Amino acid sequence: MIQGAGQIRVFHDLETLSRAAADLLFTLSHMATAARGTFTVAISGGSTPMKLYSLLGSKEYREKIPWKGVHIFWADERAVPKEHEESNFKLANDAFLSKVPLPEENIHRIAGEKDPEEAAREYEEEIRTFFGGSGLPVFDLVILGMGEDGHTASLFPGSPVLNERSRLAVPAYPETMKTQRVTLTLPVLKQAAHVLFLVPGSAKAQILYDILEGGKEDQYPAGLVRPVSGGLEWLIEREAAAKLSSAE
Ligand code: 6PG
Repeated sequence: MIQGAGQIRVFHDLETLSRAAADLLFTLSHMATAARGTFTVAISGGSTPMKLYSLLGSKEYREKIPWKGVHIFWADERAVPKEHEESNFKLANDAFLSKVPLPEENIHRIAGEKDPEEAAREYEEEIRTFFGGSGLPVFDLVILGMGEDGHTASLFPGSPVLNERSRLAVPAYPETMKTQRVTLTLPVLKQAAHVLFLVPGSAKAQILYDILEGGKEDQYPAGLVRPVSGGLEWLIEREAAAKLSSAE
């Protein structure tokens, strides 16, 4: 593993990986709410977190997470209405948000139904109001996936959005995707107290190797999310870890 690549944990399947992610969220949410009363987490879309989200909506986690202090944000959202099948809000809402005792005002969604520029500005305003101050927000936890091209959140390889340094959220127009997006920017992701990548599937094995051991971390957005002072953890399913020498 390259220096600073973070902690790597390999799991037999997505089920055990998702349980480890839910347990980490459990631990961090209790620590943060005990210290400050709130726990802020930015979550992602895609197929990877579905198991995690349904675990969070299950009886076990419904009862043991301190939901009243949890504030849910999104790392990115697709430019679709909130009832749309591709909405990242809908994914989380169906799986757990609608099932847990989370106050409605703790849900800080990106308005995918609006023009992406407007939605990004509103979302930035919402984050600034919540966190206060003019600096970068520090999320307690950011949960990210990685696409087969190395993208994360809606930061795609080669996108000018990767160079954004002053805005917190921006529109993204990935050529490879059918929907426009709104995404948190790289400086915001890097500022988080804890960044958690969830990576399943053999299709991601080569890029994962390139990032974690091949010295090509700067070529892929997922490799660029190296926290400034926070923790970085990669939860990897066995098949995605196939090329890693550092896999336990
Ligand atoms: C999204 C995401 C995106 C995702 C990756 C991985 O809204 O699509 O936030 O960055 O995490 O594309 O997607 P899969 O989990 O479907 O492989």
